[in-house]
Amino acid sequence: MTVEANSAPKDRVRIFDTTLRDGEQSPGATMTHAEKLEIAQLLDEMGVDIIEAGFPIASEGDFEAVRDIAKLSRDATICGLARANLTDIDRCWEAVKEARSPRIHTFIGTSPLHRAIPNLTMDEMAERIHQTVTHARNLCDNVQWSPMDATRTEWDYLKRVVEIAIKAGATTINIPDTVGYTAPVESADLIRRLIAEVEGGEDVIFATHCHNDLGLATANALAAVAGGARQIECTINGLGERAGNTALEEVVMAMRVRGDIMPFTTGIDTTKIMNISRRVATVSGFQVQPNKAIVGKNAFAHESGIHQDGMLKNAETFEIMRPADIGLAETSLVMGKHSGRAALRAKLKDLGYELGDNQLKDVFVRFKALADRKKEVYDEDLIALMTDAAMEA
Ligand code: KIV
Ligand code: ZN
Repeated sequence: MTVEANSAPKDRVRIFDTTLRDGEQSPGATMTHAEKLEIAQLLDEMGVDIIEAGFPIASEGDFEAVRDIAKLSRDATICGLARANLTDIDRCWEAVKEARSPRIHTFIGTSPLHRAIPNLTMDEMAERIHQTVTHARNLCDNVQWSPMDATRTEWDYLKRVVEIAIKAGATTINIPDTVGYTAPVESADLIRRLIAEVEGGEDVIFATHCHNDLGLATANALAAVAGGARQIECTINGLGERAGNTALEEVVMAMRVRGDIMPFTTGIDTTKIMNISRRVATVSGFQVQPNKAIVGKNAFAHESGIHQDGMLKNAETFEIMRPADIGLAETSLVMGKHSGRAALRAKLKDLGYELGDNQLKDVFVRFKALADRKKEVYDEDLIALMTDAAMEA
């Protein structure tokens, strides 16, 4: 058995962040060297287990970023990506080798469509996998192997190549849903079957790497964990090619909030989520949609009267997490045409106005008229409204 497979309790899920590799591959998301170092440091500080820092053969810049992230790493394992050839793997090792804990991640597309690209027969590809994983393992004792497009690879062939990679020394087997094609029930079954039927399957860590083309990446990743995967590959804000990757903040908070049915732990300090989400949005230029789960601007905002009233009485009425759990100062009660009297009274109190019932009645009418003309009523609007009301009184 490998040391890594057994060093953590069975319910501990490793978080493998690929914001700097798969995330940065999104068209237009390129980050500078300094930005990559900053994000890697934030990931390390928040408790990410493995940081995939880049694809060292892709460019001199990528190589230097992975090398410098490796040198500066603190607790996280630093991983680089390499295609299934010796030159890529050597370059990857050069970049990661100074990390306190380095990892080489090598991959090849194994589905019929992907096999057609290098024009290899099934046997030739199997031989290539044996040769490249053996080479990587001779350089580094922490090797991850991925059959790209695993979820569209024939079962018999997938089983065969995973066994070859394990025998050649891979310590983590990642099962990518490269095109976001799989469904949660299949995701769980595939991992369960691999662990049960692949020779040596119980001795390695199985990882799940999901893309979000059908909006199923988070569900598929969590289903894979239910099936036995113990590493989730993900990115901050779900950044990634096309519709993106599994969002780190979603899987981590889902396991935390629903520990009753997903009894798994991670090493993530969730109070650091909001800060890193904002930094990744800024440096990548990919703004987070307002209704994005966990980190969207509206994720902890309430406008309707019923919701605001409920929130003022007991936050648990409409919130399943506390804003502080992800590092947000407080819930925001957005003042708009759906807001009710209780929220207006509370908001005005915050702004220093204590109103009697009759006064509130009058101000509420003015507020509703204003809210009908404006999407959102800001603090300054309310102050102006109170000044007008005072002048007319
Ligand atoms: O989506 C994918 O298949 C990948 C591999 C390189 C792991 O990103
Ligand atoms: Zn990917």
